[in-house]
Amino acid sequence: EGDPREARFMARIDAEERIEPNDFMPEGYRKTLVRQIAQHAHSEIIGMLPEGNWITRAPSLRRKAALLAKVQDEGGHGLYLYCAAETLGKSREEMMDELVDGRAKYSSIFNYPTLTWADIGMIGWLVDGAAIMNQIPLCRCSFGPYARAMIRICKEESFHQRQGYEQIMTLCAGTPEQKELAQDSLNRWWWPSIMMFGPSDGDSVHSAKSMAWKIKRFTNDELRQKFIDATVPQAHRIGLEIPDPDLKFNEETGHWEIGEIDWEEFKRVLAGGGPCNADRVAARKAAQENGAWVRDAALAYAQKRAARESE
Ligand code: ACO
Repeated sequence: EGDPREARFMARIDAEERIEPNDFMPEGYRKTLVRQIAQHAHSEIIGMLPEGNWITRAPSLRRKAALLAKVQDEGGHGLYLYCAAETLGKSREEMMDELVDGRAKYSSIFNYPTLTWADIGMIGWLVDGAAIMNQIPLCRCSFGPYARAMIRICKEESFHQRQGYEQIMTLCAGTPEQKELAQDSLNRWWWPSIMMFGPSDGDSVHSAKSMAWKIKRFTNDELRQKFIDATVPQAHRIGLEIPDPDLKFNEETGHWEIGEIDWEEFKRVLAGGGPCNADRVAARKAAQENGAWVRDAALAYAQKRAARESE
């Protein structure tokens, strides 16, 4: 209460001013941002794995080119976001170490396997669709570097979502087997996508603070509802059925209402017990170790050059 800088900080937040890395900020604000931005960056990097799995098996050159571009975009998003977290004083090495030794969180969704080609379209449509819903408001996040990074990221995510939906539309307009592939994929990805938005508001430990600090602009449940309302009609338009017997449209509120979310599954995946958690972390660890010589060589070269220039 005593620190006048805290009051000034809150006044700036209330006035919709952007906070920049060298500005005063309360430790809690810094910690929350480092946590969220690092988790977000890790999600982008781990998110390359389930899709990378299908690059060599894409059914046409056009699909392969789009998938390659999309996976590269995600790598880029991860790097942007690590930079944004670095402006808050956390080193990239530290973030990487936390990821490869399993201490860091990343989005639960990437712990599910991509079993069929339809899963690639489904990730674009649902997972990137959910990601944009959550990330458009982050373009107005009170922390400048994060907000600015989100602008380009959202443009790219928007392309990802469209190419995913177009891919699923194509399957749905194809043979009965192709349509079935799409339905089977929706059956497996629907609920995990709904869970991406995080615990319901009553159980979300960070939401109240993050909303007051204008890091988050909407609660988890608000964004989840927006996603459901946008996505259910898209599924129906192409003849797919949402795997939820309790799904119904509420005429009064104008919202789609869903059945119970299996929060036990969500907790299990967050605790490392999802179908692919161990594989994902192991793949990142291997990439980190196999790439060590490149980082060492680049560093040695930079040092040699610096030494030569100072001669
Ligand atoms: N997967 C993994 N962990 C999650 C998830 C999820 N789907 N949802 C919530 N959590 C974690 C939170 O990180 C937090 O963990 P921590 O306290 O150990 O850090 C805990 O569960 C409690 O949740 P909340 O209090 O609701 O946390 P928060 O306010 O941070 O809200 C949210 C979670 C909505 C994911 C928020 O962090 C956010 O908007 N992040 C930025 C977007 C993002 O990371 N997207 C990644 C997927 S999109 C993509 O990469 C394509």
